[in-house]
Amino acid sequence: MAEFIPVPPFDLVVFGATGDLSLRKLFPSLLHRYLDGQIPVQSRIIGAARSDMDSDAFRKLIHDSREEFAPGACVDHAKCDAFLRQVEYVKLDATAPADTWGPLTQALADGKDKVRIFYLSTAPGLFVTIAQRLAETGLATPASRIVLEKPIGRDLASSRAINDGVGAVFDEQRTFRIDHYLGKETVQNLLVLRFANMLVEPVWSRATIDHVQITVAEELGVEGRADYYDKSGALRDMVQNHMLQLLCLVALESPNAMDADAIRTEKLKVLSALRRIDAQDAPAKTVRGQYRAGLVDGAKAPAYAEEVGKASRTETFVAIKAEVDNWRWAGVPFYLRTGKRMSARRSEIVVQFKDTPVHIFGAGAGAPNRLVLRLQPDEGVRLWLNMKEPGPGGLRIKTASLDLSFAEEFGVRYPDAYERLLMDVVRGNLALFMRRDEVDAAWTWADALLAAWDEIGGEPHAYAAGSNGPTQSALLMDRDGRAWWDPE
Ligand code: BG6
Repeated sequence: MAEFIPVPPFDLVVFGATGDLSLRKLFPSLLHRYLDGQIPVQSRIIGAARSDMDSDAFRKLIHDSREEFAPGACVDHAKCDAFLRQVEYVKLDATAPADTWGPLTQALADGKDKVRIFYLSTAPGLFVTIAQRLAETGLATPASRIVLEKPIGRDLASSRAINDGVGAVFDEQRTFRIDHYLGKETVQNLLVLRFANMLVEPVWSRATIDHVQITVAEELGVEGRADYYDKSGALRDMVQNHMLQLLCLVALESPNAMDADAIRTEKLKVLSALRRIDAQDAPAKTVRGQYRAGLVDGAKAPAYAEEVGKASRTETFVAIKAEVDNWRWAGVPFYLRTGKRMSARRSEIVVQFKDTPVHIFGAGAGAPNRLVLRLQPDEGVRLWLNMKEPGPGGLRIKTASLDLSFAEEFGVRYPDAYERLLMDVVRGNLALFMRRDEVDAAWTWADALLAAWDEIGGEPHAYAAGSNGPTQSALLMDRDGRAWWDPE
């Protein structure tokens, strides 16, 4: 089993502690890190929320949800109970004046020199207010850090207002903007694959790559988040952040070190080279969809409009032909596709190589090479190569794959993205967090597309829940003589 180096003792306050993200991801991740011996006993974990309950009731909430969200983790019950004893709860209305914040100030007493983390798992509308209160109450010590969950605003202007407001209290070095996709193992492996293997980088360009596909398909619908989602839509919810971050990691130039600013500067260059899509280009380069009722995994799923309880023009599916205007990638489209209620939960990056210049084994023998990086489920890498079919008599070409399933190869549990990211905050490692200028650049691109869609108007195309999106998505590829890669 891997040895984990403990992080320094810390105090962590989770605002919005009774919310979905907190119970589903943050506390289970902390539990895993604790069980692996990474969280020192002097650390304190404080949940803060408006609900009226005491620490025992909050511990019970975590205890009761852990089988669902951290299944099988608690083999050693005594250790799991010890984790719960490090957790406290403070009832707090984050919008109330600073003089009502006494309970939190008391809970954090005697910890001025410890690493102190404020995790804002709340609506972005509260980010600035909470940062201001942290300043007014003196809780924002020089050693403290703030963690902001996406979405940071809903456009460039609102994101700037949030970053200005939070930035007045926490400087950039103490601001951790989470994009949890950056904490996924395969995403980090992309950097290792590209920059730790001599084989890969020389073929990683327009000279050999035909196009790239990035798919993030979910089976789930909007669940309990209809209110948020209906105002957001797939472009703001998934593309502006997760998908663009994935695109950046595929496209960036080699950073000169595994250093936060070196990596983020290279990502920023990609975002700046991303061609804007205006109203003239949008119909040919983008597809918006919305799910209707259908069958997902054999179970009936309602239409989006039914889930949000009204007719809506919000897109739950997006396909985009994105282009990066630089020397390495000119002419290599990056096709992005994401949607809810699709046929399967599947996130992957497909790098489709060009065909060989001549076919000495006959026309149509074999197929152009393809590299697939699977983010979920079953993280791994698969490379399709053309090989000779075994046996005498003639020479037949067969396309076969080298398949590396990380779980099988390394025989370990794959940690949730939040486990790494939370420990990185404690260690002060900003490499996997978004810098402010990256967020600005991503919004600048997304705002242009949102404005183009507004100008064009129209409704999103319908697709059946449980399908691969609207037929227009296949047509977008078809027009370029390509097709989405959807394994059976
Ligand atoms: C979140 C989005 O950021 O990512 C959700 O707000 C989406 O709508 C989720 O479901 C997907 O994350 P994952 O890790 O399950 O792929």
